[in-house]
Amino acid sequence: MFARGTVRTVPIQPGLNQIVSLAFRGGLDVDPVSEITVTSGCTEAIAASMIGLINPGDEVILFEPYYDSYRATLAMAGAEAKFVTLRPPHFAMDPDELRAAFTSKTRAILVNTPHNPTGKVFTREELEQIASLCREFDVIAISDEVYEHLVFEGEHINIATLDGMYERTVTLSSLGKTYSLTGWKIGWSIAPPELTAGVRSAHQFLTYAISTPLQHGAVAALHADQSYYEEFIAKYRNWRDLIVDGLTRIGFEVYKPAGTYFVLADHTAFGFANDVEFCRHLVAEVGVAAIPPSAFYHDPADGKNLVRFAFCKDEATLREALSRMSTGLKSR
Ligand SMILES: Cc1ncc(COP(=O)(O)O)c(C=O)c1O
Repeated sequence: MFARGTVRTVPIQPGLNQIVSLAFRGGLDVDPVSEITVTSGCTEAIAASMIGLINPGDEVILFEPYYDSYRATLAMAGAEAKFVTLRPPHFAMDPDELRAAFTSKTRAILVNTPHNPTGKVFTREELEQIASLCREFDVIAISDEVYEHLVFEGEHINIATLDGMYERTVTLSSLGKTYSLTGWKIGWSIAPPELTAGVRSAHQFLTYAISTPLQHGAVAALHADQSYYEEFIAKYRNWRDLIVDGLTRIGFEVYKPAGTYFVLADHTAFGFANDVEFCRHLVAEVGVAAIPPSAFYHDPADGKNLVRFAFCKDEATLREALSRMSTGLKSR
């Protein structure tokens, strides 16, 4: 158990304490000096957590489809990935599969809620099951919450707030998605001092420090009032509904996302051999870019019928994309 500090009001490093005390929605007091690390986007926070906390030979559990950076940074740490597959249409977590993934070598589990690319928002019950196994096997949770404000149905729950979890959780997030500032690369990790020391031992040699002027800008963003978040989610909800309805009308089987700005769909109706072929055709012949999800599975065959669209675009762009696909894609 680690003692929890309190949020300080005196800036230790410009912007840093404000950024994170404002950003952490878990309702827990955190000490900005020993528990917060500002990183170059969540991307660096992921890398620093993997490299700083995982030892060569350790096992780390990933839910697949997974954000590709997890597997790459695990490889940098010399660790082995174990997979728990979330399957369409609901991408529910199978508790037996989850338990089977935990072994005496498991050092961490990567939880990403809301989840890229499925749009799944993990339920409290699922997070409780993960937490219970983390406690039983003495495992760290690395919780990537970059889409924490993009929840259309359900509730965002920070796993660190569950019983006995703060002391074994590294919470990661960033400015990128919530404030549409992906290019700023400001992110952070929040973790008890012992885990923060690990994250910082890697951060020290990855980027060392993050641009101070941008941290001041980040503080301004994090002071946004409630109406900002209400407008933000309302706008994305409209875009989500527009794209889900449009894709369904075109002939895709669409897996409506409860969170994030991604939607997964099944492209089988259009007769392509796999997702890479389908996405290549979409870019070259239809003029719409999408991602082939086989890149998010350890066995690419599991993603071959899927396509991932992003709807973080204005309405006119989304309508144009739908119109192009409606005329350019023919069911076979
Ligand atoms: C799940 C997830 N984590 C982390 C990131 C990277 O975040 P950042 O832009 O803050 O580096 C992304 C970006 O797509 C993401 O989807």
